[in-house]
Amino acid sequence: MTFSFQEAWARSESVEGWLTREQGEALFEAAGTVPPGYAAVEIGSHHGKSAILIAGNLPEGVSLTAVDPFDDPRWGGGTDSLDAFRRNIAAAGLGERIELFRGLSEDASRSWTGPLVSFLWVDGAHDLGSTLKDFDGWMPHMAPGGLIYVHDAFSAVGTTRAILQRFWGSRSIEYLGCERTLAQFRVRRLSPLGQLSSGLRMLPRLLFFTRMIAIKVSRRRGWHSLERRFMRVDNEPLI
Ligand SMILES: C[S@@+](CC[C@H](N)C(=O)[O-])C[C@H]1O[C@@H](n2cnc3c(N)ncnc32)[C@H](O)[C@@H]1O
Repeated sequence: MTFSFQEAWARSESVEGWLTREQGEALFEAAGTVPPGYAAVEIGSHHGKSAILIAGNLPEGVSLTAVDPFDDPRWGGGTDSLDAFRRNIAAAGLGERIELFRGLSEDASRSWTGPLVSFLWVDGAHDLGSTLKDFDGWMPHMAPGGLIYVHDAFSAVGTTRAILQRFWGSRSIEYLGCERTLAQFRVRRLSPLGQLSSGLRMLPRLLFFTRMIAIKVSRRRGWHSLERRFMRVDNEPLI
């Protein structure tokens, strides 16, 4: 069973999460590109919002592996979170399309025996060490031409540093673009010109990153009028 984007969004809208509608649509569209015989993997599932959007558009025969230890206090964690995930997935009618790996991304990637991954959605812990483990652990399992989407890119410091360390100037990862803090990459061998072009296209995101940091610092210091001056839309820098 696949949904239209409107149906998938309607089923995910009331689920707690930090995706804009446009980001939800980007995930939905990416899921639709996974060829039969390949896998989709989500790092960080929380209550299932993004899982519903992805699983709702996977072609017949492709399932989503959702990886989350459900024990991180920053997102509530614990059995309440796991129960909410199961409840929301079942309510969306997608229980059959999603396999849960309850554990850390690094353990899931180490023990992965599934098919090559054609869509990897990275939305777990946003510190540098965890994000590097996400990238390094899953890269060997990626299919040529596969998509890697990363949330809180050019917003969270750790995620941004990991992107710059592994993907900026890379010969095998092409930067495709961003939907706000959702950055999109493709696994592809690049010529030196392609490498340069991919790196240059990422540069304007550093200005966006500077603005997100300015918001965070102003908020932490209680400089609210300055914070508002840096903000362009509600809910920055979370979206
Ligand atoms: C921002 S939430 C995910 C939101 C979800 N993708 C959505 O859009 O609905 C982050 C999740 O990552 C999980 N997490 C934290 N560290 C992780 C890791 N190393 N591997 C997998 N999941 C992790 C947390 O338990 C939390 O549920």
